[in-house]
Amino acid sequence: MSRSLSRRDLLAAGAAVGLTGITPVGRAQTSPNRGMPVAVSSGNGLRATAKAMELLRAKADGLDAAIAGVNIVEEDPNDMSVGYGGLPNERGVVELDSCVMHGPSYKAGAVAALQNIKTPSRVAKVVMDRTDHILLVGAGALEFARMHGFEEANLLTDAARKAWVKWKESLSKEDDYEEPPSGGAQDAPRPTGTITCLTLNEKFELSGVTTTSGLAYKIPGRVGDSPIIGAGLYVDNEVGAAGSTGRGEAVILSSGSRIVVENMRHGMTPEEACLDVLRRICRYTVDPKLLRAPERPNFEVNFYAVNKKGEFGGARIYKGGTFAVHDGTTNAMRPLAYLYERP
Ligand code: GLY
Repeated sequence: MSRSLSRRDLLAAGAAVGLTGITPVGRAQTSPNRGMPVAVSSGNGLRATAKAMELLRAKADGLDAAIAGVNIVEEDPNDMSVGYGGLPNERGVVELDSCVMHGPSYKAGAVAALQNIKTPSRVAKVVMDRTDHILLVGAGALEFARMHGFEEANLLTDAARKAWVKWKESLSKEDDYEEPPSGGAQDAPRPTGTITCLTLNEKFELSGVTTTSGLAYKIPGRVGDSPIIGAGLYVDNEVGAAGSTGRGEAVILSSGSRIVVENMRHGMTPEEACLDVLRRICRYTVDPKLLRAPERPNFEVNFYAVNKKGEFGGARIYKGGTFAVHDGTTNAMRPLAYLYERP
């Protein structure tokens, strides 16, 4: 599809969102209280932004506030895309990915394919604080977490185990498992839910965290975008912060969050910056198995961003999502801008 047609689609989407009360494409959603702290999170992050704001108001460090926010969701067994209760890999083992980035010190830490620890974001923070490295993976990350006193737990809840069994029993009619009594799950999309939380404090310092159980039923050892600095998260204390949820492979390939931040550096609003990277992802996706039609991927990616001025925005490929923002006054879900109507 030509670039001009994409722009037309985009304008049509902008007109459509105007009608439905969604923020027109590219217009910055701004905190009404410049100089007040801001917390931005994904659609599952309303409790995270509330907690982060509570701590920001108490003058906590911006990264500590963001991490405390996402810890609520990491420890919640009912969120099946993050931390404890997350959907497991293809062998039924929960493997978690997370990274953190602290704008004022320009430091970062991350863990990937971490088992048995409910709060990988906290381990990522300890990697940042207590090592000269940025990313620890697998057995090394678990050993490191044990060394720092993190408690181990079985992360596979009964609900997540049952979902995995259903997926496994649905894989093939030729294997030795009976079809699940409730019917097959072959066509059900495999979730890639995640939480990200970005903060701007009263000193205009930026921080962020992203944490996930990753793609459900992934190949053991698969690492998505969430623990990759520049992909699932990026913070530049002079410019802004961005995080992502959705198909990690697309976000890694596009260096998504880093490019969102660079776009803001070059003058785009947070929302425009997110939409620009989404357009690139759509244009560059050419593998037929990932496409519904040319430039129409069959997956979703969401970006969230906040700039140094406290302006924030979020966007996704297809219409339909929301994100959580505490703008210093109100904690609320807001509609994500989008490129296309859902086919
Ligand atoms: N964005 C989460 C993942 O792909 O693992």
